[in-house]
Amino acid sequence: MIRTILSFFKKILIRSVHFVYFDIILSNRDLYYGNYYQNNGKIHRWFKFLFRWDRWVIYFKFKVFSRHPILKTDKLKSRIVEKFKSDGVIFIENFVSNKECDELLSLESCKKTQHKSIDGSITQYEYLPLNKNLANIWLDSRISTIVTHYFGTKVFGATYPHILSINPLSSSLPSRKCDAHSQINASWHYDNPLYVGCFLLLHDVGKDDSHMQVLKGTNDFLNINLSLRDRYLSDEYIDKNNLEKIDCIGDKGTLVIFDATSFHRLKNIKNSPRRVLKFEISCGNDLNMNYKDISNSLSLGFDLESLEKEKKDFLSGLYPDVHRGFAFNGEEFKKMNKNIY
Ligand SMILES: [Fe+2]
Repeated sequence: MIRTILSFFKKILIRSVHFVYFDIILSNRDLYYGNYYQNNGKIHRWFKFLFRWDRWVIYFKFKVFSRHPILKTDKLKSRIVEKFKSDGVIFIENFVSNKECDELLSLESCKKTQHKSIDGSITQYEYLPLNKNLANIWLDSRISTIVTHYFGTKVFGATYPHILSINPLSSSLPSRKCDAHSQINASWHYDNPLYVGCFLLLHDVGKDDSHMQVLKGTNDFLNINLSLRDRYLSDEYIDKNNLEKIDCIGDKGTLVIFDATSFHRLKNIKNSPRRVLKFEISCGNDLNMNYKDISNSLSLGFDLESLEKEKKDFLSGLYPDVHRGFAFNGEEFKKMNKNIY
């Protein structure tokens, strides 16, 4: 009840902010496709941050106040983490061998979902059953170590590994002409806060192939949208501010790790298919646990108990081990305290 009331007031607040700030003060209904570069980007972002108080809660709740946390020991300061902080994306070449990539591709998926864009392109998500090879890639300690040190807090697997494929039927359009929903992920956008996306290239990807691009250093922005209207950054803004586009390309077996709060997009090239193994990591927010995915991913009998404690902890949001079960508190299920029956 309280949540319904709060969400009602939140909607009213956001609509009022839109009306006053975007439509009256800026008098600009196409902020991200028009004159955004004429405004002071930083003030604008802070303004939005003030009005999205739910994002403050997320940052405070997970104790991540900055993209550049003060690292507590020298051990944590590695070159790759520093690079990740400055760029918002890093690459690990030869993360797996060609043979291991082929082995992944030969796995029969346990769940398939699709998304059709307006141009008819199909984006396909194929969830894979866990086996030793897949578990080794997903739970490779290099990944969790980098992400832990990047955020300076404990991190968790947030989505189950899946193969993401697309064969674009049209190439990406300039942002001004691009309907944000006509091609999935083709506009400059950002995703969840405190979220990292990892994808493994399952074939060689060059500059002339469909590939993801990240705007260097935009992981340090407070990227917060009030609605979809102010979510997609314009090409004009990028050019005016000389933001550097990092092409996420490489040889088969290259792992790309990017901060989902960075501005990024899929640069579609007509008839150039793209296939990656994808999974996400978070600081504990937005964990996509689902009983069907648990059952499907364990359909080959992978034994989670055989994993080391650190890896079990990393997976605890996707495969909860609750000991005492859950209790319904009238509104939601809460994990029970170990000492209370
Ligand atoms: Fe995205």
